[in-house]
Amino acid sequence: MSDNYCNAELVLNPSSSEPFSSILNTRLSRRGFMQATVATAMVTGMSASLTACGSTVGAGRLGFTAVPLSTEDKVIVPPGYRADVMYAWGDPIGSLKGMPAFKEDASNTAAEQALQAGMHHDGMWFFPYPYGSQSSERGLLAMNHEYVDDGLLHTDGTENWSAEKVRKAQAAVGVSIVEVQNRGGRWQVVQSRFARRITASTPMDIAGPAAGHASMQTNADPSGREVLGTFSNCANGYTPWGTYLTCEENWQDHFVSANPNANEKRYGINPKGAGYNWHQHDKRFDAAVEPNEANRFGWVVEIDPFDPSSRPVKRTALGRMGHEGATVTLAADGRAVVYMGDDKRFEYIYKFVSRNAYNPNDRAANMNLLDEGTLYVARFNADGSGQWIELSHGKNGLTAANGFADQADVVIRARAAGDKVGATPMDRPEWVTVDPRTKEVYCTLTNNSDRGKDGKPGVDAANPRKNNLFGQIIRWREDGDSHALSFKWDLFVQAGNPALADANLKGNIKGDAFGSPDGLWIDPSGLLWIQTDVSTSTLNAKEYAGMGNNQMLVADTKSGEIRRFLTGPKGCEITGITATPDMKTMFINIQHPGEPASERSDPKNPKAVSSWPFGGRPRAATVVIRRTDGGVIGS
Ligand code: FEO
Ligand code: CA
Ligand code: CA
Repeated sequence: MSDNYCNAELVLNPSSSEPFSSILNTRLSRRGFMQATVATAMVTGMSASLTACGSTVGAGRLGFTAVPLSTEDKVIVPPGYRADVMYAWGDPIGSLKGMPAFKEDASNTAAEQALQAGMHHDGMWFFPYPYGSQSSERGLLAMNHEYVDDGLLHTDGTENWSAEKVRKAQAAVGVSIVEVQNRGGRWQVVQSRFARRITASTPMDIAGPAAGHASMQTNADPSGREVLGTFSNCANGYTPWGTYLTCEENWQDHFVSANPNANEKRYGINPKGAGYNWHQHDKRFDAAVEPNEANRFGWVVEIDPFDPSSRPVKRTALGRMGHEGATVTLAADGRAVVYMGDDKRFEYIYKFVSRNAYNPNDRAANMNLLDEGTLYVARFNADGSGQWIELSHGKNGLTAANGFADQADVVIRARAAGDKVGATPMDRPEWVTVDPRTKEVYCTLTNNSDRGKDGKPGVDAANPRKNNLFGQIIRWREDGDSHALSFKWDLFVQAGNPALADANLKGNIKGDAFGSPDGLWIDPSGLLWIQTDVSTSTLNAKEYAGMGNNQMLVADTKSGEIRRFLTGPKGCEITGITATPDMKTMFINIQHPGEPASERSDPKNPKAVSSWPFGGRPRAATVVIRRTDGGVIGS
């Protein structure tokens, strides 16, 4: 139903996996390995799935004119394309409960904000409506709102800090579910019974091995099974059974702990927080009052967009970390496989394999599929091989004698479990995407300026640059099906600025320059869409001088060519990508336009950096991209 991959990703032809395994087990160089997989795909008929997707899908070549680097305060797309703003921070979500209009002076109340688009749009997914259809004209759009800029959110910024301001911030994060329709060639959010906001205050369930555990119990919830809200929702995922996965990334920024214990330190909780100051008016964010509240964040949250009365569920079997995204694919036997990056310097890449199989004929039976299964963490060896190391209590040293009481303890302290089993510390794992045709997996490693510094991990084959300012995209292919315990990997590209003299900073891009890759998606034709998140303190400055605003590019994974498709307005990040099944409408998000280097806007001068999109206060927004001739995007 939500399967924009024309079912190609749901089927791995067993007859084609054996030749791949055979080839991969020979001693090919890492470059040779990928050339071999492409050749094998062609001879074993895997390209047949392309034909099955219909004539709308191209042959995987880039069919547009590259756009240049830009410092302009607008979205620029190639000739023959148009980009229209559809859903900006503060727009009414289309709730039947009310449609409060955005106030340009940021004087909307917390209650109004709870019926409006949140701030800082991030990962999202288009679910065709009705459920089970392949509609490219109507759907439910589920979307993350990662964090807030209090300098823009409130008329007087952080002055006169109050419980109402905390409530407004908590209402401006979380998730939107909106109904969108193409009405006469113009996509718009419509009033709908499906429209709802899920915020930092929305009641939700805790499920999986940590549910009910003593470490999850609080004064407000002695059961350890119900928590208020989700926030810091960065990238996302979606399931074959039509649910949305939202991922809690920098949640630790909202907590304070005067004397952080080892668990709190491992997740970055400190005495001050990151300036959100929720703890001043909501005591659950103060570890002195609620020491376990922070254990209830850092999870993947599953939401059913088709049932507006359903409660979101935190799936603790997938581990607790700085979750970037959660990318689901199916093994041939129907088991769900979820790939996940933990975006912090020197953190890990994880995989979860469900115990039970997806049942395409029983949606209800799939709803708890992510509660039982096995969690793994990745080790990348220097010879281009890799292992998935099981994170199950009692195995691989994860024992009571070594300080892991039970499986709940393992998933709550997943980072410590990864440390114990010798996972490979990576250069900030961000989004993961699976090629629906080949099952190859790609992951952005956005950057890591601490790589190789004194007292920090040095370079390794997968993270080969000291002071890695530009990042890389790693890819791997499982040794067999998606649930395999080993894989082969290579680096698809090392990003960089070719204008620089230092070889360590040039990168090896075959095409247009970029750095700090973050958002990533392989479309049904196999084109790899890359979105950048150069921080606003570095944007077009220092080693990024001359590289302009953040951007979106497209890679042809066969030739390796990378071409710039879009540039964003000033101070923004490009993130979030989804499309209609016919690939004729693409949705992307512009996050934090106008963000200054300090990441906190001046409330007295909100337009200091940008006035995108409407000439006033800058507002994160969803942008609809279409071809003026109505054709397939990117082809
Ligand atoms: Fe919220 Fe890792 O980007
Ligand atoms: Ca991100
Ligand atoms: Ca990022």
